[in-house]
Amino acid sequence: MQLPRTIAGYEFVQLLGVGGFGAVYRAVLRGALGFEQEVAIKVLDADRARLSPGLVRSLALEAKILSRVQHPNVVQARHFLQISDDALGDTWILVMELVRGQTLRRLLTTQSKAATPLPINAPLQVMSEIADGLHFAHRLTDESGAAVGLVHRDLKPENVMISNEGRVKILDFGIAYAKRRAGATGSSNMVIGTPHYMSPEQLEGERVDRRSDLYALGTMGFEMFAGESFVPPRTRAVEAVKAARETRFEQREQRLREALQQRYAHQMEDSLQDEIVDLLRDLLQRDRTRRPSLAENVFDRIEAMSAHRPSVGRTYVRVSVEALNKIDRQNPEAEADPGLAVPPTQPLPRGAPPARVDPAEQPTLGPEGTEPPSALIEDLPPSIQATDRWKQAALVLAGLLLLALLGLVVQ
Ligand SMILES: Nc1ncnc2c1ncn2[C@@H]1O[C@H](COP(=O)(O)OP(=O)(O)O)[C@@H](O)[C@H]1O
Ligand SMILES: [Mg+2]
Repeated sequence: MQLPRTIAGYEFVQLLGVGGFGAVYRAVLRGALGFEQEVAIKVLDADRARLSPGLVRSLALEAKILSRVQHPNVVQARHFLQISDDALGDTWILVMELVRGQTLRRLLTTQSKAATPLPINAPLQVMSEIADGLHFAHRLTDESGAAVGLVHRDLKPENVMISNEGRVKILDFGIAYAKRRAGATGSSNMVIGTPHYMSPEQLEGERVDRRSDLYALGTMGFEMFAGESFVPPRTRAVEAVKAARETRFEQREQRLREALQQRYAHQMEDSLQDEIVDLLRDLLQRDRTRRPSLAENVFDRIEAMSAHRPSVGRTYVRVSVEALNKIDRQNPEAEADPGLAVPPTQPLPRGAPPARVDPAEQPTLGPEGTEPPSALIEDLPPSIQATDRWKQAALVLAGLLLLALLGLVVQ
């Protein structure tokens, strides 16, 4: 099925990403006297909506959650619309704030290849902002003020974006679980999510709670600090599930310490290294009663870490997002899977088939998106770039002075 270029006044411009649910596009809403607003739109096309009514309920729930979780570290919903067409059937769209930036996956891929990783403040800052957003989501209450018991259930680098300003935005509450909700769909004991980032209880299909999200945060933290995933990568889903089941923090601790030493030793006190290892060990406890009980605790611990200066961390993250944006601008073809790129004059392609319900049946679960060129961070060091800018400014000034002097002499 092909989608029209404009739906409900939103003109679809570019494919932003494809996940388990389907496709997300950048679109523009045009108003009077040249008013324009760019948004991101997740589309559930009529064919898929008809085939799987459960997907409509999931998208509706995601819309409802996003509209209520109003926090700077969680993407905001703008609208949820049903577009009826006699011939096609109903298409559903979730209109969201457009996050201009890069996914954490993209940043991590670049980082793992970089000779010089971003300074330690950067991953600490990203982790603390994820924890902050999560804490808000976990505390969500319903109209009567009762806790909803929200669990994201699918935290992974593809579902976290870093904006051009260097701020974290948690995305994709598409399989979030809420204990209390009207017309509940799915169940807490379905195995649903992405094995590499899933808590043991989620992998076993047990009831999940917010501590499952904290485990996922631990896996992402490990990946940020160590430069490699906590669960060793596997291509086949069955093996990925097996590896995720078998991986213990104790087996990975040595690797983490080595990586911290190699990547950050020059900028980190031994005490900070221990604090980071302790935090990840606590988050990655297989027994959830031994994990921190609130995302807020994680946020507080990171804030209290001696070398953590949030504004510095954010600056580094922002600069590396800018560098990736620059690569995209120079090389627009690399942005999306060529098979899915949407030239503005072409009809939009269909979303990818659902890909995450039963891990045992998944063929592959590799990271989304294309890999960026590897030479990113080497040419970064922001302080050096900043110095270069000062040098350039000084040269320009000197040039101007010389011209002024010459002018005086000639007169
Ligand atoms: N609001 C947004 N702004 C910018 N890009 C987005 C936004 N929402 C999603 N994306 C991009 O689309 C991808 C898929 O979106 P996501 O919500 O994770 O959908 P799915 O449920 O299909 O995984 C993300 O990984 C991201 O690259
Ligand atoms: Mg996703």
